[in-house]
Amino acid sequence: MAAGGGGGRRWTMVAPLLLVVFQLVGAASAAALPVVINTWAFRKAAETAWRVLQLGGSELDAVERGCGQCEIDQCDGSVGYGGSPDESGETTLDAMIMDGNTMEVGAVADLRHVKNAIGVARKVIEYTKHTLLVGDSASLFAVRMGFPYEDLTTQKSLSVYSKWLNQSCQPNYWKNVVPDSSKSCGPYKRPEKVTCKEEQTISQRSVHNHDTIGMVVIGGSGTVASGTSTNGAVHKIPGRVGDSPIAGAGSYADSTAGGAAATGDGDIMMRFLPSYQAVEYMRMGTDPTVACQKVISRIQKYVPKFFGAVICANTTGSYGAACNKIPGFTQFRFMVSSPLLSQPTEQVVDCI
Ligand SMILES: *[C@@H]1O[C@H](CO)[C@@H](O)[C@H](O)[C@H]1NC(C)=O
Ligand SMILES: *[C@@H]1O[C@H](CO)[C@@H](O)[C@H](O)[C@H]1NC(C)=O
Repeated sequence: MAAGGGGGRRWTMVAPLLLVVFQLVGAASAAALPVVINTWAFRKAAETAWRVLQLGGSELDAVERGCGQCEIDQCDGSVGYGGSPDESGETTLDAMIMDGNTMEVGAVADLRHVKNAIGVARKVIEYTKHTLLVGDSASLFAVRMGFPYEDLTTQKSLSVYSKWLNQSCQPNYWKNVVPDSSKSCGPYKRPEKVTCKEEQTISQRSVHNHDTIGMVVIGGSGTVASGTSTNGAVHKIPGRVGDSPIAGAGSYADSTAGGAAATGDGDIMMRFLPSYQAVEYMRMGTDPTVACQKVISRIQKYVPKFFGAVICANTTGSYGAACNKIPGFTQFRFMVSSPLLSQPTEQVVDCI
C-alpha cells in the first residue's frame, strides 16, 4: 500500500484526501456491506434478517430466518399458512434458498401441512443431494427433519375459499374448457372442438395480493445468499408451482456477481428466469437498478401488462429494484438494511 512506500509524512497528507474521495463514492452509490434487501414493505422480516447478521449468523441464516419471519407473520396473507387457498381450499407453500458460494439450492414446492417452508428448503441443502422436493413427499421429508405436521387452513383462508365458491369460482386459472370457466365452477373438461380465444388480461394478482417475500443478503465479505417464500396464487389449480421455488426465477445468488429476487405473476415471470438474468447483467458490470430494469423490459416485450417486480444487489453492496407499471401498480416498495441506514428502511421505486 501507499503508506509502506511513501513514509509517514506523505501518508498523513494524503490520507484525509483519500477519505473524502471514498465517502463521496460511497454516498453516490449508497454502497456498504453487509446489505439485506427484500421485496415489499415486510419490515419485520428485514429486521429479523438484519439482527441475525448482527449476531454473527451467516448469510444463509439471515435469509432463512428473515423469510421465516414472514411465514410466521403470514405477511399480507400471501406468505405462510392460512392464505391463498387453492381450488380445493388448501394452502400449499413454495420456498427456496440459495448459497452463492457453492451454488447449492434447496427448495420445496406444493408443500402441504408444514408451515416453515424455507426451513425445510434449507434442510434439502443440508441433508440431501437433491435441489427440489415437492408435494406430499416433501411433507414426509419435512416430518423426518423434525418439522410439525399441521393444518395450514385458517378461518380466513376458509372464508376466502367459500366466498370464491359462492361467486362461481371467479377468478380462476382455466381457459378453453367446458363448462366456460369465466362463468362457472368445474370440474372442467377439454371441449370436443377446440376454440382458443386469446385474451390479454391484466394479471389476476394485484397489489392487494402481494405474494412472495424474496430476499438477497450480501455479507460483509461480499458473500451472497438469496431465498423466497410464498403460498402461491390464490385459487390456483392444485399442483400449480410458481416461480418462487425455481432457482434463477424466484431468486438467484452468485458470490462472484450478485443476487436477485422476483415477485409478481410467477406463471409469467418464471418463463424468463428474471433473477438469473439480472445476476448475469450485474456480472457484466451493469448497475443493479439498470439490471433490474432490463429484465422487466425483456418481459414487457412479450407480456406488456404483467404484474411483477425484481430486486437486485451486487457484491459491493449497491442495490436497486424495478417493476412493471400497470393500472393499480405504479410504485414498488422494498426494504433495505445496511450500515448506512440507522434501521431497516422502506424504499420506493417508480415502475417503468
Ligand atoms: C353468496 O352470495 C350471495 C349474493 O351473491 C349472498 O346473498 C350469500 O349470503 C352468499 N353466501 C355466502 C355463504 O357467502
Ligand atoms: C456495483 O454497482 C455499483 C453501482 O453501479 C458499481 O459502482 C460497482 O462497481 C458494482 N460492483 C461490482 C462488483 O460490479
